[in-house]
Amino acid sequence: MKLPIRLAAALLLASSAAAGVAVATPDYAAQRAAILGHYAAEARKADPAFKGFSVAAGRAFFLAHPAGARPATPSCSYCHTTDPRNRGRTRAGKVILPMAVSRTPSRFTKPSKVRLWFRRTCQSVYRRQCTALEKGNYITFMASQ
Ligand code: HEC
Repeated sequence: MKLPIRLAAALLLASSAAAGVAVATPDYAAQRAAILGHYAAEARKADPAFKGFSVAAGRAFFLAHPAGARPATPSCSYCHTTDPRNRGRTRAGKVILPMAVSRTPSRFTKPSKVRLWFRRTCQSVYRRQCTALEKGNYITFMASQ
């Protein structure tokens, strides 16, 4: 009879620890939502039929090898790896923390950082600036990982 009680206590502890994690990161979620809201407004302006961002489209965008990419940066996944829950590497070998929000909760929470890296990497991989739709899909995919 002792074991089930201990088990129940352990479960209770585990669930309050999980709740603690959720309580520690609400700012990140709100900051990311604000950035996504900004891209959603832009996407709607570009296309009034815009219905929301897509995880699948974000994944495809992340894994794609665009024909005109700079040879040194053939895809987003080249540095961030094909599984965004993994750590990535810069061309110089420096570790990049995972893009997946489940692994790096602070991802996509600083507008200036997000802008800088989209500008830089879209130019070298896609040879143009990405659209608000593409950026929103990308963040939505990473937030699902
Ligand atoms: C040459 C390597 C490389 C490639 C290719 C690359 N990235 Fe990154 N990316 C980085 C590095 C380095 C950082 C900054 C370090 C960090 O945030 O951990 C970064 C950060 C970012 C950030 C900022 C994340 C945040 O926390 O706000 C975004 C957004 C991003 N990359 C998107 C992309 C997209 C989209 C592509 C493809 C079009 C791409 N990256 C391709 C290396 C790369």
